[in-house]
Amino acid sequence: MATEKWVFMVTAQTPTNIAVIKYWGKRDEVRILPVNDSISVTLDPDHLCTVTTVAVSPAFDRDRMWLNGKEISLSGSRYQNCLREIRSRAGDVEDMEKGIKIRKKDWEKLNLHIASHNNFPTAAGLASSAAGFACLVFSLAKLMNVDEDPSHLSAIARQGSGSACRSLFGGFVKWTMGSKEDGSDSVAVQLADEKHWDDLVIIIAVVSSRQKETSSTSGMRESVETSLLLQHRAKEVVPKRILQMEEAIKNRDFASFTQLTCTDSNQFHAVCLDTSPPIFYMNDTSHRIISLVEKWNRSEGTPQVAYTFDAGPNAVLIARNRKVAVQLLQGLLYYFPPKSDTDMKSYVVGDNSILKEAG
Ligand code: DP6
Repeated sequence: MATEKWVFMVTAQTPTNIAVIKYWGKRDEVRILPVNDSISVTLDPDHLCTVTTVAVSPAFDRDRMWLNGKEISLSGSRYQNCLREIRSRAGDVEDMEKGIKIRKKDWEKLNLHIASHNNFPTAAGLASSAAGFACLVFSLAKLMNVDEDPSHLSAIARQGSGSACRSLFGGFVKWTMGSKEDGSDSVAVQLADEKHWDDLVIIIAVVSSRQKETSSTSGMRESVETSLLLQHRAKEVVPKRILQMEEAIKNRDFASFTQLTCTDSNQFHAVCLDTSPPIFYMNDTSHRIISLVEKWNRSEGTPQVAYTFDAGPNAVLIARNRKVAVQLLQGLLYYFPPKSDTDMKSYVVGDNSILKEAG
């Protein structure tokens, strides 16, 4: 390692992902191993994403991190596990132009500075931790020249936040729960790339950008401890649903995709209600959006839009094509007219630049 002061840095951008078959419940809290498989769709990288810059320098006296401009502690086990796992796989780095040479063994002594920024509300049920940890692991892997494929990296990101493992891939992604105690087979795999079903347009209706009252982590812990419905869901329901969803994605079968996505979201929220004390993530506006979509799908005779809600009131709406997305957006603006900045905003996430942001 050269003795002069230098800074070596890498910036990466990672999109968030939205589960269409939900992960809810852990069998191992430390390694973050789930009680069921899950499937998600990764959003377009230019929209809801995290941008992270990681830097290393002999001038840094300790590891530090800033999230959206504010310094946060790295002492938690999730950050520590990710940093340890990545450091243990670090390789040699050489930048001839800058005269930087870092040997494998140097990484243990060098400190990191990490600056991360979300371009969407943090912890409001929009999977900010998914994009955040995926981006952290990906950017560190690039900085430290870690020679691992995305599935291996996904097993590291998983230890930061379960859903993060799915953001290492684009398109449709499955997180296999695995069966090994050490979690080495609990990894994400890509089912289909982003081009496979590019008619779909995803609209996120931000019902509230307030931070949720019950975090996913504590919510799912309480569900595992108290909900019988969760046991039934994990053992009996999800395994069959995963196979059906894989088939629906493979065949671009929007009717089955919608039926499975909506039913799974509703069952996840039913598990939350079956938890003691019950957890309410959706609000009246979320329920009104569900009714609107259900009525529309029924009146058309064939499904036009799928809905899904994570641990918050915001609706993720998946339109079968661009024409439907335009009608949906018009409907949302008609039934939920935005009165001020704090009201519902609809973001269209997809390749449609005309509809980028409305409301
Ligand atoms: C409802 O991945 O945020 O979005 O693993 O404890 O960090 P931790 O939880 P997290 O949970 C996400 C739950 C969900 C469903 C999903 O994304 O599959």
